[in-house]
Amino acid sequence: MSTTLTDSKKSAYLEDLKTLLSIPSVSTDPARKEEVGRCAQEVSRQMKEAGLQQVEIMDTPGHPVVYGEYLVDNALPTALVYGHYDVQPEDPVELWTTPPFEPTVRDGKIFARGATDDKGQFLCHIKAVGALLEEESTLPINLKFIIEGEEEIGSPNLAPFLKKHKEKLNADVLLVSDSAMYAPDQPSVVYGLRGLAYLQIDLKGADSDLHSGVFGGAVPNPALELCKILSQLKDKDEKVTVPGFYDKVEDMSTEERTAYGELDFDPEELRKSVGVNKLTPEAGYNALEGRTARPTLEVNGLLSGYTGEGAKTVLPAKAMAKVSCRLVPNQDPAEIAQLLEDYIRKLCPESMECTVTQMHGGHPWLTPPDHPALEAAAVAVRKVFNKEPVRIREGGSIPIVIDFQEILGLPGILLGYGLNDENLHAPNEHFRIENYYRGIEISKELFRALKNL
Ligand code: BES
Ligand code: MN
Ligand code: MN
Repeated sequence: MSTTLTDSKKSAYLEDLKTLLSIPSVSTDPARKEEVGRCAQEVSRQMKEAGLQQVEIMDTPGHPVVYGEYLVDNALPTALVYGHYDVQPEDPVELWTTPPFEPTVRDGKIFARGATDDKGQFLCHIKAVGALLEEESTLPINLKFIIEGEEEIGSPNLAPFLKKHKEKLNADVLLVSDSAMYAPDQPSVVYGLRGLAYLQIDLKGADSDLHSGVFGGAVPNPALELCKILSQLKDKDEKVTVPGFYDKVEDMSTEERTAYGELDFDPEELRKSVGVNKLTPEAGYNALEGRTARPTLEVNGLLSGYTGEGAKTVLPAKAMAKVSCRLVPNQDPAEIAQLLEDYIRKLCPESMECTVTQMHGGHPWLTPPDHPALEAAAVAVRKVFNKEPVRIREGGSIPIVIDFQEILGLPGILLGYGLNDENLHAPNEHFRIENYYRGIEISKELFRALKNL
């Protein structure tokens, strides 16, 4: 068992997390480019402070990657830790109880954009290095860190970066803490992530917005036509209707469904936690399978006409929707995006001018739940929590995990310290401070367990 952190260490580590969280490193916002760079500087400062060597901020055509390493012995295994210091936009800012970039502690939780996704989580690994070096003046294995600044925009520059620095990044295993525990006292080892295909649909009707009384009944309405298209993308069984969508889907095996069935899962609890009247998983699957192991389609945004206070009798000229699909093996993001685009064009009536724009995507990732590398994570969890981790797939996407596997040949260990109720990508994002400290303990044990990889 590792030495537990002293109170003074805990408060110093919390201060460092606050410093990181106070920098608005919103990667998608060009106006924040400098702040993103400042955040990279702060990550590199904390890496150096922990005792990592060769710390450098490495440029990419987009936001920089922060690299650091600590090499003990060639004969020992090397783990490559991946995380991201960029965050999602903070809007709608008026729904935050305290400002998104003024980290605030309430009820044992730290509130700020990026707290659980992913600053709080990747920092656990850096602090674990600092704690181990202070206690033992060395590390049990070789470590390399790559903390990027473009995950939330689909990591457009990271695959070329991995190719370019293949030698430097040579390792035996990938470690990622950018996901959730199964329940507040139940860590999970994630063996699958969904992929993503994302599109924007723009419909144009008349050349300008029109008086709906003067022109309605003669001129077509893009808002209504867009809704008609969208309403045909899923059927009453919650199946995606895009032709060919399921063709390459590898169904869950009987064993996997049995293992899922043995997990402690109460759909009623999930239903209440999100505040809906009814859960709507795909027919034939339960909600846990639906949100982690099945492909799906969502409308992420809609825009048309008058949306302010009161009523305005307008016949809009344009309507826009953002639509995305979560994918599972062996669906291909580019192929699915094309199938979806073709189907939307087919559904679009002659009265509308239709533009479909394909946005970033990502491949799904799946590894056998009993892959030997995952055992190291189980060992660490047993030591700190005294219980067996749950093994499960996650519904979110970290598109670069597959590239680490394919470009660098690394098996992935995904061990998250967050929780799904921590409002990631939403107002009032937070991270349980207890799990920050426990995450540091688990990371220390994980490094130790990886010695026997
Ligand atoms: N950390 C999340 C993904 C995640 C969340 C994995 C919860 C497992 C559990 C990551 O930062 C993220 O938000 N990814 C994006 C994908 C990206 C291409 C924008 C996502 O899933 O929407
Ligand atoms: Mn993340
Ligand atoms: Mn995210």
